[in-house]
Amino acid sequence: MFTEKEKNFWQKLPKPFFVLAPMYDVTDAAFRKIIAKYSSPDVIFTEFVNVDGLCHEIGREKLLPHLWKDVSEGHVVAQIWGKDLKNYEEIARQCVEMGFSGVDINMGCPEKSAEKQDACAKLMIMPEKAVDVIEAVKSGVGGKIPVSVKTRIGYSSENINNWIGLLLEQNIDALTVHLRTRAQMSKVPANWDYMKKIVSMAKNLDTKIIGNGDVKDVNDAREKVKQTGVDGIMFGRAVFGNPWLFRHDNYIPSVKEKLEVMVEHTQIFEEMFKGIKNFAIMKKHYKAYANGFPNATSLREKLMSCNSYEEVKKVTYDFLNKNYKTEI
Ligand SMILES: Cc1cc2nc3c(=O)[nH]c(=O)nc-3n(C[C@H](O)[C@H](O)[C@H](O)COP(=O)(O)O)c2cc1C
Repeated sequence: MFTEKEKNFWQKLPKPFFVLAPMYDVTDAAFRKIIAKYSSPDVIFTEFVNVDGLCHEIGREKLLPHLWKDVSEGHVVAQIWGKDLKNYEEIARQCVEMGFSGVDINMGCPEKSAEKQDACAKLMIMPEKAVDVIEAVKSGVGGKIPVSVKTRIGYSSENINNWIGLLLEQNIDALTVHLRTRAQMSKVPANWDYMKKIVSMAKNLDTKIIGNGDVKDVNDAREKVKQTGVDGIMFGRAVFGNPWLFRHDNYIPSVKEKLEVMVEHTQIFEEMFKGIKNFAIMKKHYKAYANGFPNATSLREKLMSCNSYEEVKKVTYDFLNKNYKTEI
């Protein structure tokens, strides 16, 4: 058990706590800054970033923007993946220097290109390597920041006893379980029935358990905590177009406010990433922001052909003036 002095940040969070999921090309530093401004998750994960690329001169320049962060974000955990144990160790060491609150190892992503590197979900069927990766990352952080893992309930089928059991033997600080197998990808609903068992397996450990998969909002999250006893909930897709998600009052913004924040998000994205990330990334967000209100389709169509902050601003304010004048 930790003494009071040794407690890491995971141990000091409220129960339940709410976490922003890592989502590649979605939860970049711009979106995270907007989310932190409008609703403050307890913990924020970066998109996953490849340790082998980061240890390579050319790859490093391209990948470092994935690790940019803003002080307003609070506890930011860097999520890493890769092939080479030495690179895991080196990047974990650098994450301490960069001021991350923790390092998380991706052991759940089903992408074929990642699995070819004997990484991510593939580690579920390479348990010895999974243990070595955890050891390498622990060695890199040298006890200065906590180490966590994000995974699924199994590879081809549910394998909680062996796989989750093995991870819980590694004395990690937190474990996020996406309640689907690798084979299920995202095609079936997450199965929260397994969570009670995982929580009971971790009962006497210092490992915080985080549940993930299909959680809609804070009310839904609280219900799942009540049913399963899990320590924290991680939200992924529910945050699309909804940076207010982590507010504890299930706040619903007006159309005007939502679209103004969309424009602000675009401005931050352009300021941070012009010439670095493709503007097409913002279009995923527009599909979510410009949705669920009268005439949203016509706005969405116009946004899809925008390629800069100025264009998005003009299209959005023209739309608001025409359709929502009374709200302005
Ligand atoms: C666009 C997208 C990108 C993702 N990128 C990552 C990633 O980089 N690392 C990771 O561990 N999971 C990643 N995931 C999985 C999510 O973190 C999460 O586990 C999954 O979406 C299920 O949670 P949800 O139902 O709340 O969305 C990604 C998911 C999506 C939709």
